[in-house]
Amino acid sequence: MSNETKTAIVTGASRGIGAAIARRLATDGFHTVVNYAAIAAQAEEVVAAIAAASGRALALRADVSDPQAVADLFERTEAEFGTVDVLVNNAGVTTFGPLSDVSDEDYHRLIAVNLTGTFNGMREGARRVREGGRIINLSTSIIGHYSPGNAVYTATKAAVEAMTRILAKELGSRRITVNAVAPGPVATELLLAGRSPELIQRLTNEIPLGRLGQPEDIARIVSFLASAESGWVNGQVIRANGGRN
Ligand SMILES: NC(=O)c1ccc[n+]([C@@H]2O[C@H](COP(=O)([O-])OP(=O)(O)OC[C@H]3O[C@@H](n4cnc5c(N)ncnc54)[C@H](OP(=O)(O)O)[C@@H]3O)[C@@H](O)[C@H]2O)c1
Repeated sequence: MSNETKTAIVTGASRGIGAAIARRLATDGFHTVVNYAAIAAQAEEVVAAIAAASGRALALRADVSDPQAVADLFERTEAEFGTVDVLVNNAGVTTFGPLSDVSDEDYHRLIAVNLTGTFNGMREGARRVREGGRIINLSTSIIGHYSPGNAVYTATKAAVEAMTRILAKELGSRRITVNAVAPGPVATELLLAGRSPELIQRLTNEIPLGRLGQPEDIARIVSFLASAESGWVNGQVIRANGGRN
């Protein structure tokens, strides 16, 4: 590996798992783009925390479901930092409830952000991530578990896993690896909002390690996948769920 500073874009990095990934990659020495869609103040807090730890980061707004916005995100990153070496497609949304109750609006929103958004990132990444780089997608451990209430969300992530494995084969000749991390329940707004404390306790009880995941548990895996050490890991989905499934 050269000593040249590398650049990582993390989508949906203004809070939760994405924020932990951004902070971790900055600690690893990457120039880091903290992408967000709605709440600039949260993204700026992540940037400030990185700067306070002597890292270099930039908050950039882009709705990942908009292909032009994703192209602009790469454009602005390259203008600021020169190249894109690592792309983490982390931005995601969910709803919780039986399939029979899913509204058309929620269905289309989940498809737009989780599936189209990740596709937009992967397509731009496939065109612009530098040779030897990394594309890392966020899936879910619900695949393999299939718990009720998560049908559309899980379907979007199953599609992300399929694209992950195929893009890995397409980009191998440029030494770009494409992998996914599939977390179990992690204590973020996405998990905790809309679920009762009793349901969260039941989920926790199902985890052999006896606790919910923390965003840093996932950031450590992304850190490995983004590093030179993971060079021969390609087209894989790494599940991290405390042994729940
Ligand atoms: N938490 C879990 O238990 C869990 C488990 C398995 C997988 N995951 C996956 O891990 C990823 C992160 O989840 P999380 O729990 O950290 O969620 P979170 O706390 O709700 O954070 C979501 C992030 O995504 C951003 N975002 C939402 N829509 C966006 C869009 N259209 N364009 C760009 N950014 C957007 C949000 O920023 P704004 O508010 O500014 O838009 C926020 O920074 C997701 O892909 C999720 O599916 C989470």
